[in-house]
Amino acid sequence: MSTSVRPVRGGRTGLAARLVVAFTLVMGVAGVTAWLVAGFAGPVLFHRHLVGTGVADPAAVVHAEEAFRSASALSVGLGLAVGLATSLAVAVVLARRVGRSLHAVATAAALLAAGRFDARVPTPRLGAEFDALATSFNAMAGQLADSEQLRRRLLADVAHELRTPVATLGAYLDGLEDGVVELEPQTIAVLRDQGARLTRLADDLAAVTRAEAPGVQVARVRTDPNDLLLSAAAAVADRASAAGVLVRVERGDGLPGVLVDHDRFGQVLGNLLDNALRHTPAGGAITLAAARTPERAVRLTVSDTGSGIPAEHLPHVFERFYRVDTARSRTDGGSGIGLAIVRALVEAHGGRVAAFSDGPGRGARVEIDLPPES
Ligand SMILES: Nc1ncnc2c1ncn2[C@@H]1O[C@H](COP(=O)(O)OP(=O)(O)O)[C@@H](O)[C@H]1O
Ligand SMILES: [Mg+2]
Repeated sequence: MSTSVRPVRGGRTGLAARLVVAFTLVMGVAGVTAWLVAGFAGPVLFHRHLVGTGVADPAAVVHAEEAFRSASALSVGLGLAVGLATSLAVAVVLARRVGRSLHAVATAAALLAAGRFDARVPTPRLGAEFDALATSFNAMAGQLADSEQLRRRLLADVAHELRTPVATLGAYLDGLEDGVVELEPQTIAVLRDQGARLTRLADDLAAVTRAEAPGVQVARVRTDPNDLLLSAAAAVADRASAAGVLVRVERGDGLPGVLVDHDRFGQVLGNLLDNALRHTPAGGAITLAAARTPERAVRLTVSDTGSGIPAEHLPHVFERFYRVDTARSRTDGGSGIGLAIVRALVEAHGGRVAAFSDGPGRGARVEIDLPPES
């Protein structure tokens, strides 16, 4: 750690000095009390007891009292000295241990503030409170590290997505300017296409940001799951028949209603159907089905007979900007955000979503489980 990061220090007096002062004060009060008792009350009591036992010889009384006084002074003095030394030692040891742990936390906090998100504090073993402090601190640092990583990746992804259309637009404009490229309908189509891609990216980014915002608002209405599927199928009917793909709906019998935001759920099923259409060649089929799971949730399934998803990609398809076949998706215009939006919106409805495929060429299936209306 060669950085010049230092914890910010508060007042000047350290913990050790404060503890020493506190312990010395306590010992001082104890000493004064002991001295008062031993110097005033003790001799009076001793004298009374001595006379009470019948010792009459004045010389013997004086001698005994003298002995009492020096014994008292010795024991009080010795006790105080040992007590003071012990308390000083304890104060120093305690202050060192507490100080070391606090210093570790302060240093780690300063590192975090300077952008070093890998800073962690060791468990101090100084009791439950300090251990809890260290644990929560490390949890906080972990969260910060995660969101920082997410932020970087998002920026890198966005930059990557922007580069291709912007570069294409730039190249065409240069070509037009130099007279190498003619302003033909074909050229205009390419330019418009790249522009549309940028617009779509902006829309997708806005949509995913909205969908992933904490506490996203969903206006839920009680709905028959079959109706959701029917209207989603109707929305893509034209595109499907143009692509030569059959879309069918398998209604579920006796299903409970689900509470969903119609617009948002239209978006969810629309994104899934969009993917299915894009990956299913002519002659294939897409099936929308509603059924009940053993856990009494309502399961909506969108399956297709298309190109399928290789197993190693399945766990990642819901991540933002994740595309299985980047080259192909690029020409198709997908930015890899559709399923991220799907997941965020399904989770905002208290549901869960998962993707399955029996492998390349064997179709894909996405299942959404929604809690039944209660
Ligand atoms: N029905 C499907 N069949 C095959 N692959 C799919 C299917 N749905 C999604 N995928 C894969 O998952 C990736 C992520 O999907 P998505 O987030 O919708 O992004 P996009 O559609 O913009 O590429 C897609 O790039 C595609 O490779
Ligand atoms: Mg998509």
